[in-house]
Amino acid sequence: MTTPKPYAEACERNRAPILAVLQQAFAQVRDVLEIGSGTGQHAVYFAQHLPHLTWQTSDVAEHHAGIEAWIADSGLANVKHPLALDVRQMPWPVAAADAIFTANTLHIMDFACVEAFFRGVARILAPRGVLAVYGPFNYGGQFTSASNAQFDASLRARGVGSALRDFEAVDALARGAGLKLLRDVAMPANNRTLVWQREAIL
Ligand SMILES: C[S@@+](CC[C@H](N)C(=O)[O-])C[C@H]1O[C@@H](n2cnc3c(N)ncnc32)[C@H](O)[C@@H]1O
Repeated sequence: MTTPKPYAEACERNRAPILAVLQQAFAQVRDVLEIGSGTGQHAVYFAQHLPHLTWQTSDVAEHHAGIEAWIADSGLANVKHPLALDVRQMPWPVAAADAIFTANTLHIMDFACVEAFFRGVARILAPRGVLAVYGPFNYGGQFTSASNAQFDASLRARGVGSALRDFEAVDALARGAGLKLLRDVAMPANNRTLVWQREAIL
């Protein structure tokens, strides 16, 4: 029996604003690794609208059947079958990438995972490579909206280390990985898309 395509309403709402950022950020990119592809909706949408690049999906194994269902239904040749990738398990199953994308993952992972994410990025992102991260962030230790504060409380109540991240803490990890912030773009629903670029010489 084939797996039904999993569906997240949020992906339908945020995909076009994120695409507008990626069209610029990934204009010179050929190979993208997505971390935490989730349902697979973003992967097929971005691969369809950014036909110049190859989109490599990944996630922990429980999401693979759903991602495969979206890829199969898309008929696209530039989106690749999901890799089993848990950010904590080094080395990642990808030797190099021109770009890395992740959406709504850094607040789900505990902070040790966020640190592991940036260690992995540092290992594989090419010189001048681009990292784009979508999600909610705090600035100056403050929530940017009441709804983000409520969301953070619900994440913390899970007791597994999930929480909204401070932009400054994430940017410090990025700088430690040799990345420089290029853009911090306001997105609908109090989210951001952060774009960093790696130094030209490693
Ligand atoms: C809220 S979902 C977001 C999924 C999708 N990117 C989206 O925007 O709809 C969080 C994702 O992070 C992934 N994730 C959580 N911990 C992870 C880890 N340690 N390594 C890799 N992915 C992880 C989950 O499996 C899940 O797919």
